[in-house]
Amino acid sequence: MKLNIAVLPGDGIGPEIIRVALDATQAVCDKFGHELHYEYGICGADAIDKVGNPYPEETHELCMRSDAVLFGAVGHPRFDNDPSAKVRPEQGLLAMRKRLGLYANIRPVTTFESLIHKSPLRADLVRGADFMCIRELTGGMYFGRPQGRSEDGNTAYDTCVYTREEITRIVTLAYEYAMKRRKKLTIVDKANVLATSRLWREVSKEIAPLYPEVETEFMFVDNAAMRMIQWPTAFDVMVTENMFGDILTDEGSVITGSMGLLPSASIGTHTSVFEPIHGSWPQAAGQNIANPLATILSAAMMFDYAFGLKEEAALIRRAVDASMDAYVRTQDIQADNRPAYSTSEVGQWILDYLSK
Ligand code: IPM
Ligand code: MG
Repeated sequence: MKLNIAVLPGDGIGPEIIRVALDATQAVCDKFGHELHYEYGICGADAIDKVGNPYPEETHELCMRSDAVLFGAVGHPRFDNDPSAKVRPEQGLLAMRKRLGLYANIRPVTTFESLIHKSPLRADLVRGADFMCIRELTGGMYFGRPQGRSEDGNTAYDTCVYTREEITRIVTLAYEYAMKRRKKLTIVDKANVLATSRLWREVSKEIAPLYPEVETEFMFVDNAAMRMIQWPTAFDVMVTENMFGDILTDEGSVITGSMGLLPSASIGTHTSVFEPIHGSWPQAAGQNIANPLATILSAAMMFDYAFGLKEEAALIRRAVDASMDAYVRTQDIQADNRPAYSTSEVGQWILDYLSK
């Protein structure tokens, strides 16, 4: 098979972790006889510095003509601490999501037995947790208009907007995933307060009868935040709107021990994007200490979701598991009194495993 991918390293630790994930991708392609073509594109703060735009037209065209996008991270403290900055790296990410039509962000939360002790929760609570958050990614408050400030600067507003069509496609997708898993869907909203949530509920109730095998559960977002830490094993597939999903997936990511482990896929109407859910961690940039596993696992999701290459994806997941079992781990997940490995050392170990 021919794999044409766009590689967007972005900012901070992005370039280091992407290098490792790309090497792993190449190794898997070599092993299974696939032809890998990749091309780099700029985005985020890096692209602002170079061309003044966090998602330049050229990068968009590259994404559009590729079969998949492997994405690092964007963000730089220079912008976080400057509320007056006109262009921000995150705008590039949002523009990419909107322009590629990436309406569904899929973030699996899985536990790794060897890391259970790293979880802030008791082992008996997290053991066996395995659920999937499906976050709507191109609607809600992130994109609703009007957004802004009053003329005197003393009032600010964001608008949350959802249409029936937007809700239908994401909820249907969530049911499809639930059908492939344990057939339980939790629909998270705030229908006791928000009009958009009430529309979500109304539309979801129309779709539910089409999937009689799936057990549907509605949950308010505040309750969901609580239940996720009280009883993480009770979830299978969870679907929610953009902002709730942003918050809940960060919560979900630490349940398993480290944010450095969770991959994601964003899918929609054009090319799909695969990226780790952690950010650009600028303080660690260039230090060769960041955990590359979430990005490697994102590459596994790419093989699986973008190309339907399940065996290839499974091999990458086995390599990641094996590296952890062998205690070849970066500092964030290393066991006490064992030395931490660097980003590139973990990468090399995984490369050797994949090439065996
Ligand atoms: C994420 C991030 C982004 C978001 C930021 C960087 C704009 O937090 O992908 O979850 O809020 O969607
Ligand atoms: Mg987030």
